[in-house]
Amino acid sequence: MTLTVEPVHPLFVGRVTGVDLRRALDDATFATIEAAIDRHAVLIFPGQAIDDEQQIAFSARFGPLEGAAKAILKGNTPRLARREIADVSNLDEDNRLLGETDRRRLYSLGNRLWHTDASFRKVPARYSLLSARVIPPEGGETEFADLRAAYDALPETTRRRLDGLVAEHSIWHSRGLVAKFEIDAEERAALPPVPQVVVRTHPGSKRRTLYLAAHAFRVRGLSEADGAALLADLTEFATQPRFVYTHRWTVGDLVMWDNRCTMHRGRAYDDTRYRRDMHRTTVRDHASTLDQVAASA
Ligand code: OGA
Ligand code: MN
Repeated sequence: MTLTVEPVHPLFVGRVTGVDLRRALDDATFATIEAAIDRHAVLIFPGQAIDDEQQIAFSARFGPLEGAAKAILKGNTPRLARREIADVSNLDEDNRLLGETDRRRLYSLGNRLWHTDASFRKVPARYSLLSARVIPPEGGETEFADLRAAYDALPETTRRRLDGLVAEHSIWHSRGLVAKFEIDAEERAALPPVPQVVVRTHPGSKRRTLYLAAHAFRVRGLSEADGAALLADLTEFATQPRFVYTHRWTVGDLVMWDNRCTMHRGRAYDDTRYRRDMHRTTVRDHASTLDQVAASA
């Protein structure tokens, strides 16, 4: 088998064939994948009928795995056995569709907003790997935005204004934008707001990139209103159609993305009627974005 990477969008996203992710990869093949994700930021691996153990084994080669934030919600029995797998489905622990007002459903609706994974953690996610096990007959696409290309396209004056800015991110902010549901003090305290830089250098490509998410709600040094307006402007700019790739899922697709230089969002589907079962592994970065910028200064 020869590993091949073909571009699928003018700016980013590669389609990888000629590799079987169920098996342990040799070092050269793994290095080719690492170089491809650094360059393309999103990789699509079609036809990978992997199970959770195989997904964990492949993902863990990139670094330590992060558990799902949704596990913080009290009163739920997890559906999936392994804590390294985030349950990105509309199913309960008995594999039944979640009810319309179920907190887990309301929580997951936050994925419909543009975001990058785990920017609400001090040390956020480097990569996410999402495996399609069951998909609905229509809807449920995932969109990706190229934040390196968006940064390059910003006017020079804006780029200069963003240099050194720090935003605060909280999972409870993005959740509150979509659904008002009860979050108790203990759940809130488990994930307090954290600071992240607004612009950074992507370590894999040395390109400058925006670092944005619906989790961001305040910019240090700006008024609450000015920070929110700036974040809204940047998000709107960065998610123009020219920077966006839409992934229409096929069962067996594994899509991997670099959270350091992209945003993504899930699209609507009739989730009280159709099942959608996706399993995600998340690779943690090695340091907070502030510490990374300090170390490279
Ligand atoms: C995720 C995510 C969107 C989707 O898994 O991190 O945001 O389309 N998913 O399921
Ligand atoms: Mn996500």
